[in-house]
Amino acid sequence: MQQHPLQSHAAITAFGAYVPDRILSNNDLEQMVDTNDEWIFQRTGIKERRIAAEEQFCSDMCFGAVRDLQLRYGVVLEDIDYVLVATTTPDTYFPSMAARVQAEFGIPASGAADIQAACAGFVSALQLANGLILSGAYRKILVIGAETLSKATDYTDRSTCILFGDGAGAMLLERREEGAFLASYNLTNGSNGHNLYRSSLSPTIAGVPIQTNSLIVQNGREVYRWAVTTVPKGINALLERNGFTTEDINWFVPHSANMRIVESICERTGISLDQTLTSMQQYGNTSAASIPLSIDLALKEERIKTGDTLLLYGFGGGLTESALLLRWTL
Ligand code: UT7
Repeated sequence: MQQHPLQSHAAITAFGAYVPDRILSNNDLEQMVDTNDEWIFQRTGIKERRIAAEEQFCSDMCFGAVRDLQLRYGVVLEDIDYVLVATTTPDTYFPSMAARVQAEFGIPASGAADIQAACAGFVSALQLANGLILSGAYRKILVIGAETLSKATDYTDRSTCILFGDGAGAMLLERREEGAFLASYNLTNGSNGHNLYRSSLSPTIAGVPIQTNSLIVQNGREVYRWAVTTVPKGINALLERNGFTTEDINWFVPHSANMRIVESICERTGISLDQTLTSMQQYGNTSAASIPLSIDLALKEERIKTGDTLLLYGFGGGLTESALLLRWTL
């Protein structure tokens, strides 16, 4: 396999995940809006999602994933020198969720910042963490993708409320002789940002009026069309530019937005569905948490092995795409 200049000394040294206990099934949704299990499963591949309890928020998802990481790998957290949390649904804008994690686990001397790149957030945060380790300034970085999308979902809108769920995944990166990062790719189409948003202070996006209730709004058809067109191109560009082919990939981990989107991407790129890891059937669309939750399900089934090559591909609000080719070093 060709070596790429981006290859670094940031290795994956621990992994954890968390989902809340409460299950919201397609049948449950039939009682809430005019929908049915057959429509939801056929159109999205989703069967159920996890929903945070009333008193649980994004920080709790983060804490759960980090506790799981500690339990599974017995790692020391005290010498972490940076915490990055990717989320679109923080408990508060500030303090950041990363600062909450720092406090919860008593990490004495670390940087802490939240990354907001919607469904591309976890992959973007991994890219940034790799850069911080590559720079030589940091050695041990905790990266978390966490969401409580249920707190920002309009449960009267059947076109969005059937999609979203809650959860988190955490990955520890450490400076090592053998690195995990092989190649990366990003592309942003900010001109179409109004097709998928969660409002904050402004009633417009680049002059386009938007709903201002801080709930998730999506033009599903437009985002669908964009994803099935741009993601296959992005995969081909990432592979070609860096001297790889689909043959080099053991596992494709796309953002679990919709199984039909994933099937179309696979068809257009020649990646087999058998080597594609998703989490939407069990957990719905969990935005920044969906890629680590897919990895978690595969780890529990002992599918991912040390040395495997993973293609992670996040896409969504922005509209933003963020991808990574990773060697699994755990
Ligand atoms: O995570 C960030 C990235 N997000 C995505 O990638 C999501 C992209 N978009 C999608 O996944 C899909 O567009 C949806 C799953 C959101 C919608 O599926 P679709 O096949 O694009 O449906 P549609 O919006 O074209 O609607 C088809 C029909 C409409 O009825 P008419 O106008 O044909 O009579 C909708 O009103 O389905 C209707 N519909 C529903 N029917 C039953 C919409 N939502 C529902 C529902 N249950 N929940």
